[in-house]
Amino acid sequence: MNILFVSSEEAPFAKTGGLGDVGAALPRQLHALGHAVRVFLPMYSRVQAPGRVFQEVVPEMTFTLGPHTVRASIYSSPLPDSGMPIYFVRCPSLYDRPGIYGNAPDEHLRFAVLCWASLKTCQYLQFAPDIAHVNDWPTAILPLMLRSVFAWDKLFARTRTVLTIHNLGHQGTFPASVLPETGLEAARDLLHQDDLHAGVLGFLKTGIMHANAITTVSPTYAREIQTPASGVGLDALLRSRSEVLFGILNGIDETEWSSETDKHLPHRYSADDLSGKARCKTDLLAALRLKGQADMPLIGLVSRLVWQKGIDLCMTVLPGLLRRRAFRLVVLGNGEPRYTTFFARLAAAFPAQVSYQAGFDETRAHWIEAGCDMFLMPSRYEPCGLNQMYSLRYGTPPIVHATGGLADTVQQYDHRTGTGTGFRFEHFDGGGLTWAIERALSVQAGSREQWIRLQRNGMRVPFGWKHRIGDYLRLYRQLAPGAA
Ligand code: ADP
Ligand code: GLC
Repeated sequence: MNILFVSSEEAPFAKTGGLGDVGAALPRQLHALGHAVRVFLPMYSRVQAPGRVFQEVVPEMTFTLGPHTVRASIYSSPLPDSGMPIYFVRCPSLYDRPGIYGNAPDEHLRFAVLCWASLKTCQYLQFAPDIAHVNDWPTAILPLMLRSVFAWDKLFARTRTVLTIHNLGHQGTFPASVLPETGLEAARDLLHQDDLHAGVLGFLKTGIMHANAITTVSPTYAREIQTPASGVGLDALLRSRSEVLFGILNGIDETEWSSETDKHLPHRYSADDLSGKARCKTDLLAALRLKGQADMPLIGLVSRLVWQKGIDLCMTVLPGLLRRRAFRLVVLGNGEPRYTTFFARLAAAFPAQVSYQAGFDETRAHWIEAGCDMFLMPSRYEPCGLNQMYSLRYGTPPIVHATGGLADTVQQYDHRTGTGTGFRFEHFDGGGLTWAIERALSVQAGSREQWIRLQRNGMRVPFGWKHRIGDYLRLYRQLAPGAA
């Protein structure tokens, strides 16, 4: 099949969270299966790292969006460990900035240009997509572009669109006055009319209205977002499209995330021989300068430190738990000052037990997944979550709030039957989190055989993308039966 894939993040070029991982791994898997995939990403300044080589694919093209004359060219560079080229939209005035996202007044323009340039490039290369797959609000207006301003071009006559919602919490809502700058002025009648009257334009909402199919990243989240409690104002619209709304669980990229081959780890290990994991823990503790006996548990947390991730619960329960129970904690994450300040203070108050590192550190993230005994993910809501799958794969049982993809991927450990993969709590409150951490600590302090069994249960769950890709291909084929 011919597949156009457009995303604002693709690891390792540009990543703030799981969208970056999925944005690279899903097309990588499609390419490996022999599909013709064209992946587009803005050429942010961070993309041009030393050692990367780029080739010009499309010389400068010019198009007009409202008052702006946009000049963009397309460069390509292969995705590491894959022959698949990534197409970068080069437009320095919009993308040559330190961050991937920002609060600048031209944020809508930055991502409208990504969509425009992707479609213009398809025309230039005469690439006729069977499927155009877009991700989250930054690329969600592309389906409407195909339906309106690009509809004259027969190249796109067979193209069907898929919008994947990775996080309903970010909707890309702008003042309606930016409409001309998206190039969609001519499609005004196809936009949400009440919103236009109220003076707003929602990128994600527009995508939900116009994509041929909508997916989200776990079956439970697909149900949750159709309820008022978790629909962030879009539940009614999502319910109206429920026949074409599917929950497809994310996979993990085992070329990047496997304890047996991980290039970031000081020692590698498998479910059959966990000795390398113990050595990872020893080295990690030394690097973090944490104290205590070797068998004292170490809990890890790697996260964007934002409201979604349930850090408020950590603030309620961790100080008391650290005083009462013997365990250590390592935290890696960037985010809101109230949370970063909390962890910095926690580390200062418990210097032998707690380590906090701010910033984004890929190697350290892998090392924490491997070197810890348990992994903490008390998210308020979680569309899918990749970290808990990584931790399962690395023999680090997760402690999670049973929501969204966390509920779909972590089974409660039952010591009587020896089944289950982690520790989940149902009620999002301090009592729930305390119960789950206490339970994990007691099971770990109990029989060593039981603990190893729990670790192996998780390590053997097939989370790789190769087990997931079939769900996407079935959907693509259903939408575009003439292709392939
Ligand atoms: P989300 O996409 O909501 O942030 P996920 O669990 O799906 O949550 O994915 C998070 C990804 O981002 C993982 O690959 C995780 O390791 C990574 N990550 C988050 N914060 C950091 C950080 N500070 N340093 C390195 N990696 C991080
Ligand atoms: C979002 C979600 C996360 C999901 C990721 C990749 O960032 O918050 O749960 O795993 O996208 O789909």
